[in-house]
Amino acid sequence: MFDSVAVVGATGAVGTIIRELLQSRRFPLREIKFLASRRSAGKRIRFAGEEITVEELRAEVFEGVGLAISSTPDEVARDFIPQAVERGCVVVDESGYWRMDPKVPLVVPEINPEAIHDHQGIIASPNCSTTQMVLAIKPLHDAGRVRRVVVSTYQATSGAGVAGSRDLEKGTAAKLAGEEYSYECFPYPIAFNCIPQIGSHKHKGYTSEEMKMVYETHKIFDDDSIQICPTCVRVPVANCHSESILVETEKKITVEQARELFAAMPGLVVVDNIEEKLYPMPITGDGSDETLIGRIREDLSSPNGLAFWCVSDNLRKGAATNAVQIAELLQESRR
Ligand SMILES: NC(=O)c1ccc[n+]([C@@H]2O[C@H](COP(=O)([O-])OP(=O)(O)OC[C@H]3O[C@@H](n4cnc5c(N)ncnc54)[C@H](OP(=O)(O)O)[C@@H]3O)[C@@H](O)[C@H]2O)c1
Repeated sequence: MFDSVAVVGATGAVGTIIRELLQSRRFPLREIKFLASRRSAGKRIRFAGEEITVEELRAEVFEGVGLAISSTPDEVARDFIPQAVERGCVVVDESGYWRMDPKVPLVVPEINPEAIHDHQGIIASPNCSTTQMVLAIKPLHDAGRVRRVVVSTYQATSGAGVAGSRDLEKGTAAKLAGEEYSYECFPYPIAFNCIPQIGSHKHKGYTSEEMKMVYETHKIFDDDSIQICPTCVRVPVANCHSESILVETEKKITVEQARELFAAMPGLVVVDNIEEKLYPMPITGDGSDETLIGRIREDLSSPNGLAFWCVSDNLRKGAATNAVQIAELLQESRR
């Protein structure tokens, strides 16, 4: 058991779910610390029947802390994590900063759990849009070797944190009331709109969010040969990312085989009956730790293509649940 565990970014959208999961999954610990920015220091948060006071994130707070689960902005993770590791703390990090560092394993427990053993103090959890896609393509890759993926995302505003959720709520209310609203985190109004840019321009017209889906998938599968063409779009949905995914495999996989492969994959649930109007939607994925797959069909334009729709709670499996699962693997490996 880790004597002392810290949740860094405990007041944020992801941190809130991490706190909830540590309680509901009964993560074994003796002491817990909640850390955030100076703005939140002194706030009191209930955890397992106790009131915990949020502390300001400072290096000294990690003395005696064995494990930290962190969800802060990238630049915060860049600065504090080496200081925490120096003090003997293992950090499971949700930010994008460390994911592509060759010394840092990037882990989805259903796919590459063994990678946690190679850590040197930091283990990264992937971007939310990557996690649900790799979970979905893993069984197809194992069965028929995935050659090419074309993916379009429909990403919820909670993916941009507490401020993103606030923007959707307040922007929608203002629009309906015919009032002005100054958006905090989106470059255009998200109410009644879609924004086909998440992150900054990164490579050949692709955004940083899109390139994360490419680089992170290659790292998780340890296979750079998978060709990926992503388009990431912010949509006015409160929570849960949806993805339209087209996969081309070396060996043909039929719809029936795909349904069986998806159903056998831990973490995936098939919801697929167009006749009965059954398919995953953000409102059905919200609050679930599982990734939902539906609309499974043959690609009409290529012989080995398979198209499907995938929905996952970005705050849970896309972030907090994956990080807590990694922490549970670490915990088991210490027994
Ligand atoms: N939202 C998602 O779906 C999702 C999915 C995967 C990964 N991630 C990643 O997870 C991280 C957190 O995302 P989020 O959505 O939870 O964001 P968020 O709601 O904005 O929360 C950010 C957290 O970081 C803390 N923080 C900010 N600046 C800080 C500083 N200078 N020092 C210490 N703490 C600081 C905040 O504390 P205060 O409350 O005190 O400001 C808050 O607890 C980001 O790197 C994001 O890319 C998010």
